Parts: sequence; C-alpha cells; structure tokens
Amino acid sequence: MTSRETHPESEMMRLGYDAQLASGAVKPPVYLTSTFAFKKVEDAEAYCQVINNLRPQREDEDFSNTYIYGRDTSPNLAIFEKRLALWDGGEVCAAFDSGMAAITAVFLGYLNPGDVILFGEPCYGCTDFVLKSILTRFGIRPVGYRLIDGNEGIRAALAQPGVADHLRMIYAETPSNPTNAMADIGFCVEMARRYSRPDHRAFVAVDNTFLGPLFQRPFDHGADFTLYSATKYIAGHSDLIAGACVGPAELMGQVKLMRAMLGTTASPHTGWLLTRSLETMKLRMEAQAAGARKVADYLAGHPAVERVYYLGLLQPGDPQRAVYDKQCLGPGSMISIDVKGGKAGAFAFLNAVRLFHLAVSLGGNESLAEHPATMTHAEVDPEDRLEGGITDAMVRLSIGIEHPDDLIADLEQALAASQRSSP
Ligand SMILES: Cc1ncc(COP(=O)(O)O)c(C=O)c1O
Repeated sequence: MTSRETHPESEMMRLGYDAQLASGAVKPPVYLTSTFAFKKVEDAEAYCQVINNLRPQREDEDFSNTYIYGRDTSPNLAIFEKRLALWDGGEVCAAFDSGMAAITAVFLGYLNPGDVILFGEPCYGCTDFVLKSILTRFGIRPVGYRLIDGNEGIRAALAQPGVADHLRMIYAETPSNPTNAMADIGFCVEMARRYSRPDHRAFVAVDNTFLGPLFQRPFDHGADFTLYSATKYIAGHSDLIAGACVGPAELMGQVKLMRAMLGTTASPHTGWLLTRSLETMKLRMEAQAAGARKVADYLAGHPAVERVYYLGLLQPGDPQRAVYDKQCLGPGSMISIDVKGGKAGAFAFLNAVRLFHLAVSLGGNESLAEHPATMTHAEVDPEDRLEGGITDAMVRLSIGIEHPDDLIADLEQALAASQRSSP
C-alpha cells in the first residue's frame, strides 16, 4: 500500500500525471520534443548543476516538472519512472532504451579498475558477455559462482585471494535466465555490508526481470538497485525494447548521469508505451502465472521430459525452496525443460511448436519457446554454460495469456514429435 492507502495497481492510471495540464486528456500525450524551454536562465543553471552532480538538490528546489533535453529525460519517462518506482518499493527509477543499457549504466557508474564484481552463473548471455569480455578490458574483475551452490558458493568465491577486499558489487540475476536458479538476496546484502569499508562501499544489484515487480521485491531484502529488461513483463506485448533501474535517490544521480552521457535514454514513445503497459501489468502477470502453473504440472509428469525447471515445483528440503519461500511472492511464468533425446529432441520439439512462437525474449502476452544453448546463451563459453546447468536438451518456455489447455495441446504434439526423433 502507498502512504495514501491505495494499492499500486490503482496508481498506475494516475500517478505523476495531471490531465488538466494537457487539455483534460485522460491518457498522457506523447511529448515529441528533443529540447525544453526555460523561463529564466537562472533556473536552467540550477537544474544543470543538479543533474550533472555538481551539487546536491536543495530542499527548497522542485525539479519534478523541469526538463532540458531528451537525452537527459522527458515527461513520458518521468510518468513511467514514478509508477515503476512505486511498484518496486524504491525511491527513484531511470528508464533506458534496453535492459542491457540499464545494467551497463550501473556497472559503469559504480565499478572502477581493480574492483571485483561477484555474480551468479548462469546469467543472461549478453550480461555474461559484458561481465567477462567488456568489464575485464577496463581492469574490473568478474568473479562467478554457481547459483546452485547457494550461499556456500558465495562464501567460497569471497574466500578466493583478492576478492573480499576488492569487492565492489554483487550482481544477482535471480531467478536466473534460463534455469530459474536463485540467489539469496538477503545473504548477498549481508556479504556486501560485511566487506564494505567507509571509503569503498559494496553494492547489491538485482536483475529482477523474471519476477518483478509483482512477485519479488529486492528492496525489502536490502538490495541497492533493481534492474529490469522492461522489454519483458513490464512492457508485456513484445512490441518494444526498454530497460529500467530503480534505487535510492543518493545513488541514482550517478546512474542517470551515465544514461545521459552515454545516450541510452528511452524515447518518449517508448516511455508512453511502458506507461500504458504498467496499467495492465498485474493482470497480465497473474494470468500468465496461473497458466504457467497448469503447464508446469502437465510437463512434470510427461515421459518425454527429463526435468522441469519451475519455481512452483521446488520441493521442501531443497535449499532453493528455502530461498523461494523467503523472497518470492509467486513462481512467475518462466519454465525450462530438458527434453529427452538431447539436442535432437529439443530441436524436434522446437520445430514442431505451433501456438508457441519459436523466438527469444519472454514476458510478453504470447507464449514463446527457444533453445538457450544455441540462441539466448550462444555467446557464453560452452564450459561455463554447462557448469551453470544449461544443457543442450534445454528448452525455455515463456508462458503468455493463451488458454493453458491450448498451450498444453501444443506441447503434447511437440513432445510427441521430439519422441519420434529419438533413436
Ligand atoms: C534476465 C535478463 N536481463 C537482461 C536482459 C537484457 O534486456 P534487453 O534485451 O531489454 O536489453 C534480458 C534479455 O533477455 C534478460 O532475460
């Protein structure tokens, strides 16, 4: 609940927008302008000092309706950002032109040569590439651990020479793409606080793409940043690419500065579409989760399926179930399966789906199926990929809002095709 005792979903049609300032239009107009006019140059000077981090904002200053240039921010982004920050339980949000832009803004904003970034494996293929092949060029050391090794994996990584004393960030993509393996956010926060020094604070950044903001609230567990591929559940219609970062005001200035300087700000049109999407996000995510539960139950008993990776099937006693119970509010709608028959079985299955699209991405209102090892995670070193649990037999499913019985019928015939392909 917000301080005004309304639920977040009720604020998604209202917060941050005054219809009377736009001829009474119930929906905000798209502000298609690259630059913004000031009444006085002194106002422009004050605003530029604050957005360039030259001085903190004074208490008597209000820049909530001040803009200068579209690469900095613009009114459509401001509406979306206020609403997503509310959902996420964070202070300030910044919208980006992709999830990768949001992730790299936090990395570039806070990591320096000599710093260590600890991260769980597997993670999304492009994030893996940025960590291992780009940050390393700037003297930043990525240290991976296997998510399925849980908190012991983090402890072991921190015990490696030079890790704890140079720790600057713990990056937790949780649940991870594509295995749904989880990191214990509260434990990551405990470790980051333990190894922070007054002159060298360590941060926890959580990629909340798979469950957030509805089914996981990293700020309740002490995280510093949440990151999103807003392309996915937030946008929800597979019709745009966007990203978001949410965090406390004292840390977000630097993230917004990176966004403006690198030019990775979302466009007004993207901001408008994202705002539209937030209005139905809860309905979509709940419907998708309900459908996924039915689909997962069906897959769990199928003879052509070797293994199902779905949070709703974690059993009591499994350490991952304890993490789930502690930090997740629902299992979401991502399911991966290992199809019997290895890569050939997985390919036969994917070539046979009809209602599911054979496509990367996830979180849209249509169901998608893909082969992580050769598609979304193709750029990951094959050894690291296997080590992280991504098998050649794995197929990732993103469940949409179609009738679950129709999805199951499609899976039934695709699994039959995979069985026919097996020797
Ligand atoms: C977990 C996760 N994080 C980040 C990204 C990157 O987001 P984008 O494609 O919007 O740049 C993706 C994309 O699939 C993802 O699955």
